[in-house]
Amino acid sequence: MPTVRRVHALEILDSRGRPTLKAYCELSDGTRAAASVPSGASTGAAEALEKRDGDGARHAGLGCRMAAQHVGGEIDTALRGKAFTSQAGLDAELLKLDGTPNKARLGANALLGVSLAFARASAAQAQVPLYQHFANQVGDKPRTLPRLTVNLFSGGKHAGGQVPIQDVLLVPSAAKTVDEGLAAVCAVYRAAAKRMLERFGMRLLTADEGGLAPPFEGAEAMLAEAVAAIEAAGFEPGREVALAVDVASSHFFENGLYHLDGAKLSSAEMIAKLRSWAERFPIVSIEDGLAEDDWAHWPELRRALCGRALTLGDDFLCTHPKRIERALAAGAADALLLKVNQIGTLTEAAEARRLARNAGWKVTISARSGETEDDWLADLAVGWSGDQIKVGSITQSERLAKYNRLLEIEAETHLSVAAWPG
Ligand code: PGA
Ligand code: ZN
Repeated sequence: MPTVRRVHALEILDSRGRPTLKAYCELSDGTRAAASVPSGASTGAAEALEKRDGDGARHAGLGCRMAAQHVGGEIDTALRGKAFTSQAGLDAELLKLDGTPNKARLGANALLGVSLAFARASAAQAQVPLYQHFANQVGDKPRTLPRLTVNLFSGGKHAGGQVPIQDVLLVPSAAKTVDEGLAAVCAVYRAAAKRMLERFGMRLLTADEGGLAPPFEGAEAMLAEAVAAIEAAGFEPGREVALAVDVASSHFFENGLYHLDGAKLSSAEMIAKLRSWAERFPIVSIEDGLAEDDWAHWPELRRALCGRALTLGDDFLCTHPKRIERALAAGAADALLLKVNQIGTLTEAAEARRLARNAGWKVTISARSGETEDDWLADLAVGWSGDQIKVGSITQSERLAKYNRLLEIEAETHLSVAAWPG
């Protein structure tokens, strides 16, 4: 097993024009690899902390030079000359070095960059595809390709907040391949774009993840328009193309009430509203339907949706094993949205996945709203057998890098797409 010769990092820009990190790992046999770190905007309160420079004169304080220095300095000194036979060994060293519960000292961005770059170097060194390496890491083999969930309309923090809910996504549920699923989604997106141009008479604005962001009068209009676009593209809503919703409700939850389309809803009223959406629209998954701290009502939400739509936790679970264990005990969800940078290392994210899988939950492997052209997420979704993948829309290269990598993996492996929903 070769040793780590050097790790270092560079501050680069993400898809929003904000700084993030690209980390590099070099092994003693000459293997070199790099990986870039994504970054969220509608972040959960329990997420691991990114190290930001805080210098208001540069990138509004969001610079990542300090995080890059931590990689090339303290982390490099600690890893240099050591051989790690597993990802867990490397990640344990990183956690020990940082020494804080939320990665605040060295930065979750610094730790994750090194964790990912090491994974890629290890795959290259073993001469296996990255998805195979990720599968080996969790003691599994690549079984299926993830079902696509693709942003069509966006609001909330990823757009101008013109509609409170964050995303309405398309799920090409009848597609047998990623290729077929993408073609269906692109057809619906084109139909929706045409309808929006006719209706609002303006050039289409898109949100951070490429979803269309017209000024709908409310969330239900957004859902109804998604169904109309599916029909306009010649598909049967529900059977051929279904919907998923990221409500991201923490971001419109104030003083115990959900501020939705002019109404102030109690938790029980919010649950009734979500249930009525699941009854009236072909929705197969509802993400963050309640706020991240509304623990008391999540079990009721899950019961209300059970059998109709997944109760998917993003900010609510934060890919954090402790939060997942608590949700399991309470029966508060039945699906995990997995974002590795919410927790900060691959090993901890693998533990989150293990807990969810053991409980029979579905797992969605997710990108962030601030992404890069790196495509490791597609390999992760295949290697960890994600039931779904959530990357964003189909008009921006940082999203397409992942879809195109999935196409490549599909052509290479001929794996079938996960049987979901139903
Ligand atoms: P974020 O949003 O990357 O801005 O946190 C993505 C999501 O909420 O799923
Ligand atoms: Zn979300």
